[in-house]
Formats: sequence, structure tokens, C-alpha cells
Amino acid sequence: MDTVSNAVHYVFLAAAACFVIGLHLMNHPRTARRGNTLSAGAMAVAIGATAWLVVHQDRISSTGWLVLVSGGVLGAALGLWAAREVRMTAMPQLVSLFNAVGGGAAALIAVNDLLQAENPAGLGARVSLPGALGIAIGTVTFSGSLIAAGKLQGVVSGAPVVFPGVRLLNVLLPGAFVAGTVWLVLAPDSRTALYGLAAVALLFGVTMVLPIGGADMPVVIALLNAFTGSAVAMTGFVLDETALIVAGMLVSSSGGILTKLMADAMNRSIANIVIGGFGTGDSAPTATGSGTPVQVRSVSADDVAILLAYASKVIFVPGYGLAAAQAQHELGDLAELLADQGIDVSYAVHPVAGRMPGHMNVLLAEANVPYTQLKEMDEVNPEFPQADVALVIGANDVTNPIARRPGNAISGMPILDVDKAKSVVVIKRSMGHGYAGIDNELYTDPKTGMFFTDAKKGLSELKAAVAEFVG
Ligand code: TAP
Repeated sequence: MDTVSNAVHYVFLAAAACFVIGLHLMNHPRTARRGNTLSAGAMAVAIGATAWLVVHQDRISSTGWLVLVSGGVLGAALGLWAAREVRMTAMPQLVSLFNAVGGGAAALIAVNDLLQAENPAGLGARVSLPGALGIAIGTVTFSGSLIAAGKLQGVVSGAPVVFPGVRLLNVLLPGAFVAGTVWLVLAPDSRTALYGLAAVALLFGVTMVLPIGGADMPVVIALLNAFTGSAVAMTGFVLDETALIVAGMLVSSSGGILTKLMADAMNRSIANIVIGGFGTGDSAPTATGSGTPVQVRSVSADDVAILLAYASKVIFVPGYGLAAAQAQHELGDLAELLADQGIDVSYAVHPVAGRMPGHMNVLLAEANVPYTQLKEMDEVNPEFPQADVALVIGANDVTNPIARRPGNAISGMPILDVDKAKSVVVIKRSMGHGYAGIDNELYTDPKTGMFFTDAKKGLSELKAAVAEFVG
């Protein structure tokens, strides 16, 4: 190995160390931004080092450079624009699209490598195995992530999409998928195996994600994220690129851990998920009495202000509606006002509240909420019976007591035990459903008052009413 190649490998090693440190820094909201910058900086350096190596080894034609630079500029511009412009509530769709792009790119690189090989029939398993896996996993991720993004955006129905023959397809396709992968490993020169595997994987991604509905999306997004990492790592093996292997494996393993955490939060087993348990049985939405008129108790800002002002302990329960209304600052202000009156305030954070992992933590950090007031589900649930008021702001599924019973879209999902508080107030605009599309029994509980309003407007009114009341 010459000096430049040697130096580049040391740069890759340093970049890999920075990726790991960056991931570690993301463990805490206080250091997460630094972790992100460090990892992004390391990736930029790794890309620069790769370009240096390519120039040094004269591996690329002038047309190749043109394609590379224009692709890089276009991709960077689009990525920058999307990251700056996208609304916080649309972030999960963007992440899904990024997964699709990552998986698709990894698959295309593997396809290109097999097609361009000088002696494809003579490729050993060291190249044909990661190549076939890169195509298989990358393509499934591509089509599956596009469907997931469509579901989150509302372009594809969020409910399980089931059509005649889907069960048979879901048995046949995984078989064909595995057989196609093995065939391509054994016969990397076979065009039929290559195109056949790509077609089967494309279809498999679609049929795997379409039947997923209700509240199971967090698990599938995390799983597709892990798949993207694996596909990228496989491409790294094909190209013999250390930086790609390390970055891909980090995404794959952290995505795998996230999948496990999300599956635990939803009380689903990963084995079930991987072998096609999504969207079956208890994942199908059962609109319990949808459309049937129900009796709820409507309350005003003044009613809630009195409840809050007399409380000793208040637990806030934020959900997707808080993010949609961008009302985190108003919530932080109200909590501060109550805390100033000596009231014990805390925030109950459900692991899948919102639309992406850590959604509520990010929102509340934006409003400079003290971290000591944030409580995870297991920590806060025993505290609800002592709470005078549980104030639910735009959360729905994660508070629905129906999850404790079998036979509905969220059966078995651990929830925040809001219904155990002495009194409950829910801020939302209507009796509309949450992501799982089912009625919430909390709203008809006699101790629940419904404050029908937009979260931002409602919290501002509430703060003004409490301020006036406490003088
Ligand atoms: P949801 O169950 O989705 O309920 C959100 C509620 O917010 C809705 O019922 C809506 O009612 C209300 N809302 C919307 N805009 C509002 C506004 N401007 N002001 C006040 N309220 C507003 O939310 P959740 O309890 O956070 O549960 C999350 C759900 O999403 C779970 O089912 C979870 O599985 C799923 N999911 C989560 C993730 C991750 S990783 N977190 C990813 C994908 C899916 P109104 O329309 O009546 O106002």
C-alpha cells in the first residue's frame, strides 16, 4: 500500500472513531447537536479523503468526475433544502425518504459492480455475497421506505392495506427473495438472477409495508433504517471501502437497537415483525363505535385554570398535536408559571409519542424545559394516582386505555396511565382520532374534561387565565 492509501486509511479510522463518539454524544439532548456536527464533519472528511484517493489512483474518467460532482452538488443542495425547509411534523416522512434513497443507492452500486465485473462468473463469495445482499436489502428498503413515507404523508392509507391474495404473496415473496439471493451469490454472472432478485425485492418491500397500520409504524421505520445501514455496509464490502462499512454497520446496529426499543415500547416481538406479523390480527384498526355520538364534558380555559391553580401536582402529557401546533414554548411558559407557584410539574414522555423517536424530547428541549422535569413512561406511570391534574396536550393513542384490552389496533401497547390521575384535561381540536384511527375511551371518562382548541391557542389562553387567577 502506498503512502497516500495508507494516510487515507488512517483518515477513515479517525472518521470512524468520530462517528462512534458522535453517536455517544447524541445520548443526551444537551450534547446531541455537538454529536451531530462531529459525525457530519467526519463524514465530510471521509468523502474528501475518498476523492483524494480516487484522484491519486487516477480511477475515474472526466465524464465520471462530471457525474460525481454534479450528483454531489445536486444531492447536497436537495438535502440541505429539505432539512431546512421541512416542518418538524414532516420529519419522519423525510427520514423515510432518506432511507429509501440510501437503500436504493446501495442497491444500484451493487448492481453496477456485478454488471461491470471483468469476470463475473469468477467472482468469489467475498464479493458476490455482499453484492447479492446489498441488492436484496437495499431494494426492499427502497420500496418499503417509499410506501412508509407515503403512509406517513397520508398519500397511502395509514390503515392496513390488504388485498386478495396478500397472505399468499407474503408467503411466496420471502421464499423467492431468499432463493433469488442465494442464486445470485452462486451465479453472480446470471442476469436473470440479478434482475429477478431486484424485481422480487421491490415487490416484497411494498407488500411488507402496505399491510402495516394502526400504531406499528415506529417499528417499521426503525427497521427500515437498520436495513439501510446493512445495505450500505454490504456495498462497502463490495467496494472494499472501510468508511462505508463502518458507517453502514453503525447505522445498522443503532437502527437495530432502536427497532428493539420501539418494538418493546409497542409490546411487539421483533421475530413477529420480521416474519410478517405486521398488520395481522391485533394490528387491524377496529373503530370502536366510530361515528356513534358519545357524551363528553367540555371545559373552558377558566375551568382548567382553576383546576391547575389549586393543584399540588400536575403532569403534562405531550403528543403529536403539540408538535403539529408548535406549542412547545407556550407549554413551557405555562409549566414555569405553575412551578413558580410551588406546584410540582413534570412531563410524561411516551417512547412513541409524536411521529419519530425522541420527538417529544426534541420539542421540549427546544422550549428549554428543564431535563429534570422530563419523565419516561416507566418512571412517571406510578406517579399518576398522586397527580391532581394530568393535562394532555395533543396526545391520543399513547393515553388510550383501550390498549389494555385485546382485539384492537393498539392492544398490548403500554400507555401512559393518564386515567389514573385525580382529574384529566385533554387539549385537542375535536373528537378526531389519533394515528391508530380508533376512539379514545379516556375522553368519555367522567373525570376527563375536554378543552377543544388548537394547542397553541389553548395553552396561551390557559396561561393568561392562570396568571389572572393567581394574581
Ligand atoms: P396521536 O395518537 O397521533 O394523536 C394526536 C392528536 O393530536 C390527534 O388526535 C389530534 O386531534 C391532535 N391534534 C392535532 N393537531 C392539533 C393541534 N393543532 N392542536 C391540538 N391538538 C391537535 O398522537 P400520540 O398520542 O402522540 O401518538 C403517536 C401515534 O403515532 C402512535 O399511534 C404511534 O404509534 C404513531 N407513530 C409514532 C411514531 C414515532 S416513532 N413516534 C412514528 C409513526 C407513527 P384533533 O384532530 O382532534 O385535534
